[in-house]
Amino acid sequence: MSRATIKDVAQLAQVSTTTVSHVVNNTRAVNPATRARVLGAMSTLGYQPNILARSLRKGVTKTIGLIVPDASNPFFAEVARKIEDLGFKQGYSVILCNSDNDPIKQTSYINTLLAKRVDGVIFISSDSAPSDLSRLVDNHIPLVVADRDVSLEFADVVLLDNERAGYEATRHLLELGHRNIACITGPYDLSPSMQRMEGFKRCLSEFGIQFQPQLIQTGDFSIQSGKVATLRLLSAGPKPTAIFALNDMMAIGAMSAVNQAGLSIPGDMSLIGFDNIELAGMVTPSLTTVAQPIPEIARQATSLLIERLAGTRNGSNQKVILSAELLLRDSTARLE
Ligand code: RIB
Repeated sequence: MSRATIKDVAQLAQVSTTTVSHVVNNTRAVNPATRARVLGAMSTLGYQPNILARSLRKGVTKTIGLIVPDASNPFFAEVARKIEDLGFKQGYSVILCNSDNDPIKQTSYINTLLAKRVDGVIFISSDSAPSDLSRLVDNHIPLVVADRDVSLEFADVVLLDNERAGYEATRHLLELGHRNIACITGPYDLSPSMQRMEGFKRCLSEFGIQFQPQLIQTGDFSIQSGKVATLRLLSAGPKPTAIFALNDMMAIGAMSAVNQAGLSIPGDMSLIGFDNIELAGMVTPSLTTVAQPIPEIARQATSLLIERLAGTRNGSNQKVILSAELLLRDSTARLE
């Protein structure tokens, strides 16, 4: 049986092919009864619109590529879910690419999205100097960089004021009387980790507290790296009374290590995380953390891109800097 065509659907539903096209593409409001007849005819005939042909004809695919470094990290998962929801509501399909913190895989996905002729890309980098991003620009594919600054002049950017957020988290611990404050950083070359550390150091300096390198451990934003870093902090060097972990996943790892050492949070150790993933409010004790405006990050990135795609915003690139908010829960307490 030959494949049903748009003409077959129009004939069976007793409408024009233009009406069938409007129903398929959601390009115009169609009388509900007429829409029902068209959808019924499509189902009866097993009609499948040729999306590839339409894409080539119109030069758009109504798809957005989204590249994230680690889809298993709830921060990226929550951002991705919000972007997908916002894109879908604007008629776009979102292709999620997980680069697994691997620059090689990241480059492969950039090339895949090019080959699939996505209309635009939202990009959160796995490293500080991603290669091949310029290929998107060379192919006139609009790009929005989010969360991690990669110093590109040809992209719209949505970032957080990480330095200020790191400062405020540290000030909270200092105001509780802590002086031996450890910090578990993310990968050093990534802008969020570097900037949060800068805020940490600036706050110590303003309070006249000497920076102690022995209280700094490098993680990789994973739970396991937070646990390993905390076990190191507890086994050697000056004993911290508080830990500032530069993301919630490492803070959760730190919780495990502190409990494993027979210590309590916040009685023996105060703990602050960063992101405010859903889990942060569910662990015991609930995690004091720096709340990233996840819905707003997603909304800004998606609207900047879709404005470009719709042609309602041309010209110079925008740089949006959002603010975080310190969320006090049960994992921090005054030093007795
Ligand atoms: O949890 C992942 C971390 O990496 C977050 O703090 C986010 O800002 C990203 O850079």
